[in-house]
Formats: sequence, C-alpha cells, structure tokens
Amino acid sequence: MDFAINIDPHAPLPLHRQVYEELRQAILTGRLTSGQKLPSGRSLAQLLGVSRATITQGYELLLSEGYLETIVGSGTFVCRQLPDDLLNATPTPSKSSPANSPIPLSAYGESLNDNAFLRLPETKLEISFSYGRPAFDHFPIDLWRKLISRYCRSHPEVLDYTAYSTGYKALREAIASYISRSRAVNCSAEQIVIVGGSQQGIDLITRLLIDRGDWVAVEEPGYLGARRAFLAQGAKLFPVAVDQSGLIVDELKSSEIPNIKLLYITPSHQFPTGAVLSLPRRLELLAWAQKSGVMMIEDDYDSEFRYGERPIPALQGLDQGNSIIYVGTFSKVLFPALRLGYLVLPENLVHVFARAKWLADRQCSLLEQYALTDFITEGHLERHIRRMRSLYNQRRQILVKSLFEHFGDSVEIMGENAGMHLMVKINTRIPDDEIVKRAALANVGIGAAYPQYLKASPGSEFIFGYAELSEQQIQEGVRRLAKVIPIQNSK
Ligand SMILES: Cc1ncc(COP(=O)(O)O)c(C=O)c1O
Repeated sequence: MDFAINIDPHAPLPLHRQVYEELRQAILTGRLTSGQKLPSGRSLAQLLGVSRATITQGYELLLSEGYLETIVGSGTFVCRQLPDDLLNATPTPSKSSPANSPIPLSAYGESLNDNAFLRLPETKLEISFSYGRPAFDHFPIDLWRKLISRYCRSHPEVLDYTAYSTGYKALREAIASYISRSRAVNCSAEQIVIVGGSQQGIDLITRLLIDRGDWVAVEEPGYLGARRAFLAQGAKLFPVAVDQSGLIVDELKSSEIPNIKLLYITPSHQFPTGAVLSLPRRLELLAWAQKSGVMMIEDDYDSEFRYGERPIPALQGLDQGNSIIYVGTFSKVLFPALRLGYLVLPENLVHVFARAKWLADRQCSLLEQYALTDFITEGHLERHIRRMRSLYNQRRQILVKSLFEHFGDSVEIMGENAGMHLMVKINTRIPDDEIVKRAALANVGIGAAYPQYLKASPGSEFIFGYAELSEQQIQEGVRRLAKVIPIQNSK
C-alpha cells in the first residue's frame, strides 16, 4: 500500500511523535477518513525507512486517544466512530504558519481568484433545460466503442507521444474536407490544429494574440467562456450590441476605441440570442476588419443544426484578408466530454500555435483522434448529424408550441431557427433569480441570460436548451414553469 507522510530524521521531535502528529493531522483534516485501513507497522516502517518500533509507538498513541482502532485479523483502521470533539478540534495553524500566508499569484492567477468565476454544477433537476448538451442517449455508443477498440488492439502508437502537436494528420484531412464541403470554410489540412475543445482553442488564441490592456470586442450579450479567457489575459472588453441580424457592425465602425486587437463573434448562431449575421453585415464586417487590421475569432459551435433554412456558409469562407481564426468543436455534434475541437488558422500562424499547443498539453489524445477520423471518413458523423437535426427539430417545435400554449403572447422566442437552444423573453415582473429558484423548486432547471451581458441586461430573458430532453419532458417542464411564473398579459 502506498502511503505518504512526512517525517524528518533531523528534526528535534522524536520519530514516533512525528508519525503520531502526521497521522493525527491527516485524520483531522479529512485526508484519512474514518474506516480507512492503515498500512501494517512493518510495511510503513519499510516505506519510511524507520524501525518498526517507531511506527508501533506512533500507532499506540493514536489508538489510546481513539483516532485508530484495531480489528483482530484485519489490521489497523482510522476509528469508524471518530468522536465529534476530535474532529471539531481541528488545529488552527499559528499565524506564522505557511497555511495562513497568502501565496502570491501571477496577474493571470489573480484574475481567476474570483469566487463568482466557476459556477458549480447545479444539482441535477428532474427536467433541465440547460443549454449546449446534446441527446446523449442517441449517440451511437456501440459504434464508438468498436472504433476505439479497433485502435486499442492493433495500434500501439495510439498510446505514445506524437511528433505532431497539431493533431493526427488523417483527422486534420478529414476535418478539412468536411468543413470545406459543409461550411464552405476555405482551408487545407495544414491550417488545422486539433485542440481540446473550442475552449482550449480560444485560450490559445488569447495567449498568442492578446497582451494585457489590449482591447477585445465581444458580442453583447455574448459567450461567457470566451469573455472569461480574454479577461484572464488582462484584455479590456468592448461590448458590441446584437440585433435580429446579428452583430451591429456600425457600432464597431463608429467606436472611439483606436485599436481593437481582436473580435470574437458567433455569426452563424449568435450566442445566446440565436441571431444569424446577415450577408450584408458579413461583408461590412469583413471590410471593416481588413481596413482596421483586426483579427476575428469565428466560433461556429452549433451551426450544423439549422432548421428549414439554407445553411449559411461560414464567415471564414468569404474572407479575403486572412483575418479569421475559425473555431469548430465536436462537443455539440458528438459529446462534450470528448474534448476535441479544431482551429483553422491563417497559414502564417500555424507554427506558433503548434508550439503553444505543445506547451499547453503536448497533444490531444491519439486514441480518440484515430476513432474520430474513422467516424468522419466512414460517413457516421454526417449520418449522426442528419439524425440529430431531425430529432432536435422535433424537440424545438414541441418547445416552441408548449411555450406559446402556456404563456401565450407573454413570451417572445428568439433564435429558434438553428442550434440546440433558444432564448425566451418572458413578460413577468418576477426577478430572474427568483424565477430560476421557483423553477428549481418545481424540479425544472432554466438559466437566466443576464450573466451573458457585460452591461446591464434587459432582464426576464432565459436560455432554453432542448436537445437533450424528450418531448414529454419538454411539455412537462414548460407546464411546471407556467405554474410558477406569473405573467403579465399585455406586452
Ligand atoms: C458559444 C459557445 N462556443 C463553444 C462552446 C463549446 O465549448 P467546447 O468546445 O469547449 O466544449 C459552447 C458551449 O456551450 C458555446 O456555447
């Protein structure tokens, strides 16, 4: 049994006291939990390079104070019923102890030292309209398992480091072919870097292109995951409003800010409003970017799911000026825990991104990259997307119908023609947090949109993810919401 405690043969405290103190601390701080087995005296003595008598003495002290118990024939254990007064007597470290002194963080670390940063996962509610989660039970898991085991068995190189931090070549080729065809992205496999989801892509872009104090323009409202990365790097954010036609490019053009370094945009399905950037705005935006020399991140996170409309080609495909880094992800079309996404870079940025990726984590998991390559080249990806598009379309229609049935003209629905979520404005006087709380009491999860705003939000806007929920769950969820959210009838 591996077991780590610190003892110092040169310290003035006798060794058996050190064993006693270390184990006692471990129990009081919860590192050792009640009922946990300890190594035998002989093996701990061997492990620590001390005599067996030292360990026995240390154990005996702990036994006499009720921290440990022995069970004949089984060994020594942390006492199953630790008296409360022992646990409450957690030693308070002295003022001068290292545990109390703040550890100086870098500017980056300081920017993350914010309690509001990570919102812990909500307790799983019976019906959760949380966004960005695909229909897990429709993922062809048996097929995926077959592809994974195909490479586990016969390709030992999938267990190794690879010379290519940019990703498995065949996967980059498969992605290049897929996005050229389906999204009109203009690229070759050499421009692609495989990353650990779009979040890592955005993080790498930020590190490589942004310095402290640089201005980054973001959509308002916009995606928190990107905004957090920019802020952590010390960027200043310039919010650009969004309407039904997407980002209002005039706001950029008339901005007082002299040198915007980067613009982050979700043109195909604006997050969270769902607006699609119109063609005139696309052309206007590209002309502005080219004139002002601003790089843009095009986050194309869920545009595979379009309902009833012609697919709008990616902005990157229209760009003549090498001013776009296109970010794609498999989190929505497959599953988020896969942590595979990709960047399409202007050619002259590929080398530096390859090095940054190597520094961040060397490479993405090869096994999954191999399996994903076959998943794409054998046609499973596009088949799965077609199936999910049809499934999500039905779920989306049920959600829209249920919302109108229960809330009538007191709801306004935005962005329902694409993606896996829609944004809903509810005409009510109840504050957003109170609505989220009331919904949770009815065992329904919904997310308020206000955290996605940099400036004050108009309020009463909610994001409804629907891809993961069955039709019955959607109907029942909306029915329960209608019971707990009083509406105002006049708009
Ligand atoms: C706008 C946007 N971009 C990207 C992502 C996906 O992130 P990742 O690829 O890191 O899972 C999400 C997830 O919800 C998102 O909402």
